Amino acid sequence: MNFTGKTILVSGSASGIGRSCAELLLENGASVVGLDINQSTITNERYRHYPIDIRDEHKVTDAIDEIEALYGKIDGLANCAGVYASSVPFYELNMEDWNKVISTNLTGLFILTKHAAKKMIKNNRGTIVNISCIRSKIFRPDMADYAASKGGVVALTSAMALDLQDYNIRVNSVAPGFTYTGMTADAFDNPEVKAYSETLIPARKIASSADIAKVILFLLSDMADYINGETIFVDGGFKISK
Ligand SMILES: NC(=O)c1ccc[n+]([C@@H]2O[C@H](COP(=O)([O-])OP(=O)(O)OC[C@H]3O[C@@H](n4cnc5c(N)ncnc54)[C@H](O)[C@@H]3O)[C@@H](O)[C@H]2O)c1
Repeated sequence: MNFTGKTILVSGSASGIGRSCAELLLENGASVVGLDINQSTITNERYRHYPIDIRDEHKVTDAIDEIEALYGKIDGLANCAGVYASSVPFYELNMEDWNKVISTNLTGLFILTKHAAKKMIKNNRGTIVNISCIRSKIFRPDMADYAASKGGVVALTSAMALDLQDYNIRVNSVAPGFTYTGMTADAFDNPEVKAYSETLIPARKIASSADIAKVILFLLSDMADYINGETIFVDGGFKISK
């Protein structure tokens, strides 16, 4: 896949799937603009980092305006920033915990996509990839906030795709299964948790962040130009086995 000459925004680029996505895009020639609440350690002359919270609409609009001024256009957006569940039953969730997960995984994604899409509309071209999760479909106790946010991403993806249908802009999402990243390292560094988790996956392995990133790049690329409004499960067969 050749992204030479393309400017791609990646949220969550300081860690995990977002970082792998940024690195793979750089390997394939793109100019990458990362947006993450944390600083990034990526060192590449085609990488520029904005240490911002995607929930802060003022900071996001300022960053997007600056990016458009610097690069002239925005070709793609990968929405990889996210946080995990508060890990209590829904009836124990306080508003602060609920709002943290929903405001990051759903509202933050909405804010960033809204402002990036407005720039793409001007060029009548663009691709957007969101990150959902197997937990939008296959549930476990104690993750109501996270499941609601990720189910919301599936619906929002299709709704956004239709709103953008006349502007040559596609919107899709990937729903990863168990993936080794900053979010899950504590769990999967425990050999028992890792071994048990692998028994649940037909592929018998935890995904690497690169396993997910390569599908994000495919959806960002012209190779996927007839896929729109779709969520692709990248889970080693987990969903079909349940
Ligand atoms: N790891 C998994 O098993 C798994 C499975 C399915 C889906 N996902 C999803 O993949 C996405 C990436 O997660 P990951 O596993 O790479 O985790 P990660 O913790 O390694 O990376 C998430 C990144 O998002 C950033 N971030 C969090 N809140 C932010 C905010 N408000 N503004 C800007 N940046 C913010 C963090 O600083 C971090 O760099 C998330 O949406 C997550 O829900 C992960």
